[in-house]
Amino acid sequence: MTTPAIDSRNADQVAYWNGAAGHCWTDLQQVQDVVLAPVSAALIEKAAPKAGETVIDIGCGCGATSFALVRAIGANGRVLGVDISEPMLSRARNLAEPGVPVDFMLADATVHPFAPAGADLLFSRFGVMFFAEPAKSFANMRRALRRGGRLAFACWRTPRENPWMMLGLKEAYKYVPKLQPMDPEDPGPFSFASEERVNRILVEAGFADIRMEPVDLLLEVAAGRGLEAAVQATISIGPTNRALENQPADKVGAATRSIRDMLASHLKGDTVPLGGSIWLVTAINHN
Ligand SMILES: C[S@@+](CC[C@H](N)C(=O)[O-])C[C@H]1O[C@@H](n2cnc3c(N)ncnc32)[C@H](O)[C@@H]1O
Repeated sequence: MTTPAIDSRNADQVAYWNGAAGHCWTDLQQVQDVVLAPVSAALIEKAAPKAGETVIDIGCGCGATSFALVRAIGANGRVLGVDISEPMLSRARNLAEPGVPVDFMLADATVHPFAPAGADLLFSRFGVMFFAEPAKSFANMRRALRRGGRLAFACWRTPRENPWMMLGLKEAYKYVPKLQPMDPEDPGPFSFASEERVNRILVEAGFADIRMEPVDLLLEVAAGRGLEAAVQATISIGPTNRALENQPADKVGAATRSIRDMLASHLKGDTVPLGGSIWLVTAINHN
């Protein structure tokens, strides 16, 4: 396989998503697909993919949304899933049913030379908040859209509005040091929380008719598999995982027990529903 071109400023994200984080996401793929299913449903409804369309799924990860898009566009359409993570793309390729019109490509969306004006829809579930230079990345992706082509993506709103990600971290902080504070514009899950910033990036990238709809959701972090599944999902990815990384085993053990108690207080049968909040962002390429 040839090594794809990478924007050097995205190198740390390439390392992150090909290292432990990419492997954890891959291991948790089945659970994550259930946890994030309400986001896919809301975003696909908003993006309105049509039969026969060509769609690019940016930061497609293990492919859940690419497969959902294929079902929407049918046999005469085409979906291209793009990601920088080899382990996640490898899972996506393994999950792809033979003969369905989906391809997966290892590429950095910031610099990949997409076929110009070839796509009807640029789509992403949480794959666009990790670019070092987002306006450059979106300008590059926009050139892949035909005139009148659509952009539709989901991104997280603020940490405060996402208890499903932050409640575990709050428990962890009782036992381990706080993470280094990040600049709100540093690449990361919350870097698109600001409506003003997302607008600024998309205007600079040449998009028009930008709309952002706030949506509140319940995310079921156990994926119907009970308390232990919720604990594992909470400590294995995201900010709680980063806070527990490289900490002494006794501290990690104490934090995990505390997280289990917190999640138990939200347990309903085999489910643990927690609040999440996203922006559904849409825009048009008029160029
Ligand atoms: C939070 S995960 C979301 C994965 C998937 N869309 C989902 O919802 O399950 C973010 C994804 O964006 C990918 N990503 C980050 N930077 C990227 C870049 N510059 N180009 C392409 N993909 C990128 C990561 O490798 C990762 O798979």
